[in-house]
Amino acid sequence: MAYWKGVIEEYRPYLPVTEKTPVITLKEGDTPLIHARNISRKLGNGLEVHLKFEGLNPTGSFKDRGMTMAMSKAVEDGAKVVVCASTGNTSAAAAAYAAHAGISCAVFLPHGSIALGKLAQSLIYGAKVIAIEGSFDKALKLTRELADKHPVTMVNSNNPYRIEGQKTAAFEIVDTIGDAPEYHAIPVGNAGNITAYWKGYKEYHQKGKARQLPRMCGFQAAGSAPIVEGRVVEDPHTLATAIKIGNPFSWKSAEAARDESKGVIEAVTDDQILEAYQMLAALEGIFCEPASAASLAGVIKKNKEKYFTEGKRRIVCTLTGHGLKDPDRAVAVSGKPAVVKPEMDEILKVLKL
Ligand code: F0G
Repeated sequence: MAYWKGVIEEYRPYLPVTEKTPVITLKEGDTPLIHARNISRKLGNGLEVHLKFEGLNPTGSFKDRGMTMAMSKAVEDGAKVVVCASTGNTSAAAAAYAAHAGISCAVFLPHGSIALGKLAQSLIYGAKVIAIEGSFDKALKLTRELADKHPVTMVNSNNPYRIEGQKTAAFEIVDTIGDAPEYHAIPVGNAGNITAYWKGYKEYHQKGKARQLPRMCGFQAAGSAPIVEGRVVEDPHTLATAIKIGNPFSWKSAEAARDESKGVIEAVTDDQILEAYQMLAALEGIFCEPASAASLAGVIKKNKEKYFTEGKRRIVCTLTGHGLKDPDRAVAVSGKPAVVKPEMDEILKVLKL
């Protein structure tokens, strides 16, 4: 059996690389598409929900797909330093791929709004970690200013190679189920990923690899839903810190994905996100981070509204990041373990046996 070679080698004809491009890879991609039988049954209406679990990438999120491309092209162009602003996952991926490439990395994070696991990643991979006393949007603006004036390469999703790499997730889904699903649900933050999936689905469709295109259903957190509200949100808030973004970079292309695919971009509340987050773990054994569960939360919401039409309806939900990124949230929603004396009687009492 052949080894998986990472998304650049696996999808080379679809990506802007040449034989001169040094491939910086941690063998990202090839993530499982998992049929969520229990959740599908609970939703009823004949829906078939599949989960693209991107938490199983090398740094625990979908960002690795884009970062292998951005870093390979940066090294090809002679970059010595890469920079990004991040709610935690882009920075983890940038730090890891920069380490692998042997170049420097600086990351700008909104102080106090980063899940613990993500902060740990940027630090241990050896990036220069700068916590900005302000929002992600402020950090992004500063990063752009820095990149405009200094010899550093920006690896946020304004870097087109990021989108190119991330579109490979759509290819994998089509390669797995033999066509595009009828619907694709995805969390929306800076809006690069919905842009990337739509690009991927369209390219595979044009090449005849997929017969149909999905409706793209993007979900923002209610406290930070600029696309839904049609205005910049100055002070975004949500416990889904990964998508706590008030002025997304790829705003226009996310709207284009929604409109061209005849889909939706809507908001889900933090309570709806947490309900989906716990359902995924308890009903399917899949532990994703809170922001990732916005995709399923949106599907539950839209199903109640009878949005999904008759006939065969496959819905793929992207679960963007791993639950271990944010252990504090998991403990907070689950309650404490039962602490007992080291005696069988005590244990039996707790287990009610
Ligand atoms: N889910 C997770 C876990 C994320 O980390 C992000 C974005 C998104 C969803 C939304 O994706 O921005 O392409 O719309 N995280 C970025 C970061 C902003 O800095 O890690 P998007």
